[in-house]
Amino acid sequence: MSESKIALVTGANKGIGYEIAAGLGALGWSVGVGARDEQRREAAVEKLRAAGVDAFGVPLDVTDDASVSAAAQQIERYAGRLDALVNNAGVTGGMPQSPTTVGIDTMRTAVETNVFGVIRVTNALLPLLRRAPSPRIVNMSSGVGSLARQTDPSASEGTVGPLSAAYSPSKTFLNAVTVQYAKELRGTNILINAACPGYVATDLNGFRGYRTPEQGAAVAIRLATLPDDGPTGSFFEDAGVVPW
Ligand SMILES: NC(=O)c1ccc[n+]([C@@H]2O[C@H](COP(=O)([O-])OP(=O)(O)OC[C@H]3O[C@@H](n4cnc5c(N)ncnc54)[C@H](OP(=O)(O)O)[C@@H]3O)[C@@H](O)[C@H]2O)c1
Repeated sequence: MSESKIALVTGANKGIGYEIAAGLGALGWSVGVGARDEQRREAAVEKLRAAGVDAFGVPLDVTDDASVSAAAQQIERYAGRLDALVNNAGVTGGMPQSPTTVGIDTMRTAVETNVFGVIRVTNALLPLLRRAPSPRIVNMSSGVGSLARQTDPSASEGTVGPLSAAYSPSKTFLNAVTVQYAKELRGTNILINAACPGYVATDLNGFRGYRTPEQGAAVAIRLATLPDDGPTGSFFEDAGVVPW
């Protein structure tokens, strides 16, 4: 078994996921760069290695059973265990998303990736996580999935985002699923939490965010490296707990 800690970051070829991989790598972790496109994946692995990160490519489409099970087998062969899984891959499903006109395909795309993808990857990797001494799971959610924030009449659009009838509810769904995992896993050494990176300039929002991907990655890195007495079943941003 490898001496260094092993992480898998989904959607790590760009944006926040890339910076999560870079940040864990800088802490000395060996990082699996989960990405569905071979060229983008290899380019990211090369760039991370050039920066001194022990990175390895993991072909991974979170919406595809065969791809996810092959990724789990690859990590089993590579390390025999997994110390942290960061479920970062996400899509909006396409914008605009007015609830009165949104296409069901848009809804389906968002939920397939942002919710079912997380469940598929988590369940495939859980046997390897269970072999680690202090396993952590981080689900990259969003403050726009917070019903408390969405229904706060004083919240600014900067906090709650535009109308997004597919993306926001997919993150609310993800939050609810995260709580269910935490319930089942309570009493084990696995800590699972949801994270909000803030509004980050990436492809996802046409680079309109005002935070850098590195800033967005920080909360996920913190939750992936929580001490054994750390929280589980909660939702965090840099400033602290996000209300459900
Ligand atoms: N940016 C923000 O302001 C913001 C705010 C709150 C939450 N988030 C969340 O943060 C996470 C990262 O988003 P980002 O802003 O960094 O966006 P991004 O730059 O668009 O990156 C998204 C990543 O997910 C990957 N991905 C999408 N579908 C996938 C699939 N089926 N299988 C595997 N990988 C897939 C993408 O791969 P490809 O390159 O192949 O498309 C890409 O690597 C997402 O979960 C997002 O919802 C972002």
